[in-house]
Amino acid sequence: MWWERAVVYQIYPRSFQDADGDGLGDLRGAARRLDYVASLGAQAVWLSPFYPSSDYDFGYDVDDFCAIDPRFGTFDDLDALLAEARRLGLRVLMDLVPCHTSIDHRWFRERPDFYVIRDTPEPPNNWRAAFGGSTWSRDPYGRGWYLHSFYPEQPDLDWRNPEVVAAMQDVVRFWLDRGVDGLRLDALDRLMKDPELRDDPPRHGPPPLPLHPEHATLDHVHSRNAPDIGTGLAALRAAAGDRLLVGEVYLPNAELGPYLRHLDLAFSFELYHARFHAEAIRAALASAADTPGVAWVLSNHDFRRLPNRVGPANVRLAALLLLTLPGCAFVYQGDELGVSDGPEGPLPRDRHGRDGFRNPMPWENRSGAGFTTGKPWLPPATAPGGSAAVQGGDPGSMLNLYRRLIALHGELPTSGLEFVDHSEPNVLAYRRGEHVVVLNLGDAPVPLRAGEIVVSTAHGPPTEPKTLSPHTGVDIRTG
Ligand code: NOJ
Repeated sequence: MWWERAVVYQIYPRSFQDADGDGLGDLRGAARRLDYVASLGAQAVWLSPFYPSSDYDFGYDVDDFCAIDPRFGTFDDLDALLAEARRLGLRVLMDLVPCHTSIDHRWFRERPDFYVIRDTPEPPNNWRAAFGGSTWSRDPYGRGWYLHSFYPEQPDLDWRNPEVVAAMQDVVRFWLDRGVDGLRLDALDRLMKDPELRDDPPRHGPPPLPLHPEHATLDHVHSRNAPDIGTGLAALRAAAGDRLLVGEVYLPNAELGPYLRHLDLAFSFELYHARFHAEAIRAALASAADTPGVAWVLSNHDFRRLPNRVGPANVRLAALLLLTLPGCAFVYQGDELGVSDGPEGPLPRDRHGRDGFRNPMPWENRSGAGFTTGKPWLPPATAPGGSAAVQGGDPGSMLNLYRRLIALHGELPTSGLEFVDHSEPNVLAYRRGEHVVVLNLGDAPVPLRAGEIVVSTAHGPPTEPKTLSPHTGVDIRTG
């Protein structure tokens, strides 16, 4: 399967490239920049939503599942993007948001049976929404309380209604028939809940993955991840045929199994959020060892940028880690430039504080950053190594490190990772076929055994050092 060793590049369309000067990225702009993605060596792109949206959640509140927001372009623009991708040998994944619609979707007015609505005096249970507050809000049409796992403007669809399932299958076929190669499925652990809507019990101890503090007070045994989740997933699979399905399942690795019975891939958020320390990373990798189909990702539009999460000193190591693991890896736009959080715009956009992870691409050092000729919707991102144009000409840049690592990713075996013991506690080492990857996450130099260095995260030409500097890693060919 093409994705077994693919690198997928995540495009956040509104911040990738603007072609019409309105300050918002669009499909024509994205198509123009696909040659850049191909030059990285990636095999595919995933486009975050470009459906008509009221922007309560910037595209993840969908007003119409079978349309394109005119701000992003037209069907002709999408067809042109698909054709350009094909010309460059890139596959294209779209985002599908099956769990909820926008409150402005006509279904919410016309088809209350498509949603979870209860006409009770009080909210039906104690469930808390992912961004805080109750999952229940008063229905603006006077029908009682409606359920929303995320923002109140994102009412959850009722996946226990066969008509909802059929409608969403139509949506899947609609886009795949247009030539899209696969789908990234949003928020799948929220797709199905306890049909009896029982209270979630209180949580004792920290959650396995980071959550909004209010959301984290409960153990979400009923408000998500229902035991019969497979029925919903099987319906998505039936509609998608053999096209790629990648699940956003916000659960620890050990709980991905039921999802991967139907999906090809599911992101590992356990590795994503692992403390950047050898032991924690080793544990996150080990817990995925028996779960084929785990896709590796360390960054996306929802959480702090890599320099702010793993620390600036570790950003190049994070790239080495991500791109030397077995299977499919996802790279979020801007990571290949070392983009950090912010800058913030004059007005906050996302109420959950995620603007600083979504700034437009810094293509060039000029007004609008080569992203737009107009006023960018958020200030362009910044990276210590400069814009893509500057980094392109610097052999030691983050951009060129990513290029080397993506090329290496294509040479490594698709499966199998064997930990190699190292005397230093904060060193992570693993064997991948003929290659050994060694990451020194600590603050002191460590001894390095001899071998041909294929890629080093250190600046400068590869040498054969006897020691590995702090926060430096190498891929060594041993065969
Ligand atoms: C996950 C998406 O990545 C995020 O941006 C969104 O807010 C939630 N799902 C809800 O759709």
